Amino acid sequence: MGASPSECTRRCAEELEQTLEREGPETVAAFIAEPVQGTGGVVVPPEDYLPRMYEVCHRHGVLCIADEVITGFGRLGSLFGVEQWGVVPDIMVVAKGITSGYFPLAAVILRTPLFEELRDLAPNAPFMHGFTYSGHPVGCAVALGNIEILERERLPDNAARVGGILLDGLRASLADHPLVGEVRGRGLMAGVEVVRDRGSNTKFPAEQAVGRRVAREAVERGVLFRPLPGDVIAMSPPLVLTDAQAGQMVDALRGALDATLDSLARAAAL
Ligand SMILES: Cc1ncc(COP(=O)(O)O)c(C=O)c1O
Repeated sequence: MGASPSECTRRCAEELEQTLEREGPETVAAFIAEPVQGTGGVVVPPEDYLPRMYEVCHRHGVLCIADEVITGFGRLGSLFGVEQWGVVPDIMVVAKGITSGYFPLAAVILRTPLFEELRDLAPNAPFMHGFTYSGHPVGCAVALGNIEILERERLPDNAARVGGILLDGLRASLADHPLVGEVRGRGLMAGVEVVRDRGSNTKFPAEQAVGRRVAREAVERGVLFRPLPGDVIAMSPPLVLTDAQAGQMVDALRGALDATLDSLARAAAL
């Protein structure tokens, strides 16, 4: 706690290296990470975190898997999240954004040498993994159509631009709010951490469900936010979000936080 971002990376890399050496890297199947952690609290890593972790893994012959289920297909402002940090994973897992959610589809993407190695393990067998709906033609057609639109309409660029407006707006409007501990995000992925005490970053007790109360107030103001455990209000809006809609999100959240603060103050005064 309280460490600078680069110190945080240094400690993580050191711990990873020690763990790999203690356990034996040949016993470690892979290192898996989301480029920006989503449901875990919308956690944006320090700039040098992914490059350092990948470097340690690759030096020990450990595969790196990028979980791009949330960040893949444009959300962070590039087609894949890892591009933002210049790292190349051995495997990527993708889902939601591959069809923009219009059809259920997920995919595993492998680097060619890894694919060839797996394929050659069973020379006469196809590379398959036994899912009932593997390679579903409707899902694949929707994905191809979706990717064409993402590219034609430059939606990753829109995510970068409008995401910047959203994050700037959230910071400008909320950074001094008594209930806000931190505003963070990248591209069109943002999180606002709700706290009881800003100075000490103390959380509300989970049973008070303050994040859920904020989200309910926001519904009254026309915007659906996702309250995560730990009272982080998470945002992952459509990549076609407009500047005006980003403003609407900021206003709704500000109003919801004000209303929640009022109701907490009223309850405390009783
Ligand atoms: C980052 C991340 N990885 C994996 C999953 C699970 O994906 P699936 O439901 O396609 O198995 C989710 C689901 O929300 C997710 O957010």
